[in-house]
Parts: sequence; C-alpha cells; structure tokens
Amino acid sequence: MSTPPSHALSHLKFMTMTDWDQWFTRWQSAFEQFAADAMSEADAGHDLYHVKRVVANSVRLGGVEGACPSIVMPAAWLHDCVVVRKDSPERNRASRMAAQRAGEFLGSIDYPVQFREYVAHAIIAHSFTAAVCPTTVDAKVVQDADRLEALGALGLARCLMTGGALGQRLFDPIEPFPFRRPADERQQSVDHFYTKLLKLPATMQTQSGRVEAQRRTQVLIRFLEDLAEELGTAASELQQSLSFLTTNCPQAHA
Ligand SMILES: [Fe+2]
Ligand SMILES: [Fe+2]
Repeated sequence: MSTPPSHALSHLKFMTMTDWDQWFTRWQSAFEQFAADAMSEADAGHDLYHVKRVVANSVRLGGVEGACPSIVMPAAWLHDCVVVRKDSPERNRASRMAAQRAGEFLGSIDYPVQFREYVAHAIIAHSFTAAVCPTTVDAKVVQDADRLEALGALGLARCLMTGGALGQRLFDPIEPFPFRRPADERQQSVDHFYTKLLKLPATMQTQSGRVEAQRRTQVLIRFLEDLAEELGTAASELQQSLSFLTTNCPQAHA
C-alpha cells in the first residue's frame, strides 16, 4: 500500500517514491492524532487499538486487492471517529455521522479534495447496521478490514467485552444456543454470534477478506462447541442452532 495508485493520484505523478513516502507519512500522523483524540472516550472494544488493527488489515487487504491508499488510509483511520454506543437509537446513523466529521477534518487539513467523497463513501459503507452497499474496491477493503475485527479471537474478546459493558449476561441459562427461541443480542452476548458475527463471512466483499473471515469464523464456532461441552449441552442442540449457516446464509447486504 505504499505505491501511489495511478487512477487517483494523477496530480502526484511527478513525485518520486521518496516524495510519496513523505507525503503519505505527513497525512498518516494527522489521521492518527485525530483518531486518538476522537476516540478517547470509546470502550475497549472500539478504541484506538481497534482502529490501528483495522488500518493494518486495510493495508494487507488493500495491497492484495489493488485499492487506493489515499482513500483507504484516511477511511480506515477515521471510520469510527464518532462514538455511538451499541445500544443507542442513533446507532444506525453512526457511520454517516463519522463520515461527516471525517469530511470536516479532512477539509481542515486541506486533504486533497478529489479523494474526500470516496473516503466518505468508504466510511459510511463500513457499518453493518447502516446496510449501505460499498461500490468501490476501497470501500470494500475498509468494510472487510473492519468486519475481520468482529471474528476470530479478537472478535470473541470484543463481543464479550462489549456485552459486559452493556450489562448483558453471557448466555441464556435455559437455552444457551438459540434455536427454539429468537436470538436476543440485547440480553445475551452469545446471541450476538447468531444475529451478526456468524453472518459476516457471507457479507465479505473481497476474496482475501473472505478467506481470512472463514478462518476466523472457525475460532467462534470452536468456542461455541467448547462452551456447549462445558455446559453439558447436547451437541445436537448446538448443531440445530447453527443450521441457519447452511440453510439461510444471507447475501452480502453491504
Ligand atoms: Fe464502526
Ligand atoms: Fe470499527
């Protein structure tokens, strides 16, 4: 991702790679400082370290997918710059609010104007709850980079931490793995696996993101299997609760 894209940086074609690195480093430190200030109040699952991991995922996926770093990098750094609690009624507007605030910030630092609307689109489309289709490879990369954070060991830890912060219990003591009852993620953290996390692999937008999402999803399923065993829940009950994975996989909505 250190190579400037030909389609988006025509005004920088005269630059040498050293110029490019300096240009890029200058913006990067501004993005990081803004994100650090904007997210100082965020919970541990959505703090600056989450943002840094999304940036790292974006670098990795963006390099493979041929995305534009001048769009992907500010979008990844700024994608969560407005903090809205998961249980807030404003939640489905959070990414639009973040895009608005990011746009004001990019204007204030004179970030090249030709990238800004693409950055805004990538920020708006990253959100699961916003349900906006990413139409550029840059937006697809940022969305996948953020969704990888909801899967694997990190996704598991973030889910349980967020549930704890919202005062949820870990699972329903009567039916830990929902299949006779509807999943209710406001009550139980494990239900969030069913309402969102296990549906994410089917929404991945890039091939490299899809491969990594599948690997990380196995971590979540292994956790549910171990939890069922430790609770003495019949394996068949867990399998029934997971049957939607093969019978009702959602199409990419975002
Ligand atoms: Fe977000
Ligand atoms: Fe995020």
